[in-house]
Amino acid sequence: MEQLSQEQLKEFDEKGFLFFPSLFETAEMESLTSQLDDLFALDIVCNLREKGKKAVRTNWAAHNYNSAFARLSRHPRMIKPVEQLFDEGVYMHQFKVNAKAAFDGDVWQWHQDFGTWHADDLMPEPRAMNIAIFLDDVNEHNGPLMFIPGSHKQGVLEAGHDTETTSYPLWTLDPKTISSLVREGGIVSPKGRAGSMILFHSCLVHASGSNLSPWDRKAVYLSLCAVSNHIKRFKRPGYIAGREFAPIECLPDDCLVQDYEVSLPWSDGIPTEELQGI
Ligand code: SIN
Ligand code: MN
Repeated sequence: MEQLSQEQLKEFDEKGFLFFPSLFETAEMESLTSQLDDLFALDIVCNLREKGKKAVRTNWAAHNYNSAFARLSRHPRMIKPVEQLFDEGVYMHQFKVNAKAAFDGDVWQWHQDFGTWHADDLMPEPRAMNIAIFLDDVNEHNGPLMFIPGSHKQGVLEAGHDTETTSYPLWTLDPKTISSLVREGGIVSPKGRAGSMILFHSCLVHASGSNLSPWDRKAVYLSLCAVSNHIKRFKRPGYIAGREFAPIECLPDDCLVQDYEVSLPWSDGIPTEELQGI
């Protein structure tokens, strides 16, 4: 799957997301999941912990210092559909693994990603897309993503900067707005095996609850931005809002199970200039 069909394009336009159950095979997923204990054990700023806890909430930018995730960041099954939607090359605005750990995984409040990218990073237009791959099986108990289908058609909604609820500041939407959107579109949660993929619009309103189950819900997210739409402000550190705007060059489709050479620019440590805002 590298190109979206006419039906998929129509569904994406209507709902604001597409779900691809079990798109990646077990061996491909193991090349990634085998890296996670080591990644989460790193004592680096790129491991953001849950508020008041040791559990990692988000690991940032592993594509710059881990070979398996670097190869994933150039995977044609993830990059090509987004190039097709924007009809141009894309760069990595954000690369993260959200751990949503068993018992400890905290909420993600209702938000639109483009709201934050626009407000914080001065990304001009919502010409950026999220692609998520489940690294664990996702079920109704372990904090699946919740989408409001069709909400991407609202454009950017008014949001407030929530710096309190979790360890990660986010521009969030108020309950009144969410209630009215849900009356219109309902809520859906794509669920499925590890290796399933979701593509979703950067204005799609989404959230996830806490994970009180005994099952982790790790997922990796690529936020891909059209090259011509790159951010204009570098207030956030480079490991959260990427500053490398060259178009991503894809590797062959078997890049998770074959050891292609990839550059790892941060393998000797995160450069000082990427650690803070400018
Ligand atoms: C996000 O909204 O960026 C992440 C939400 C989640 O991982 O549940
Ligand atoms: Mn989000």
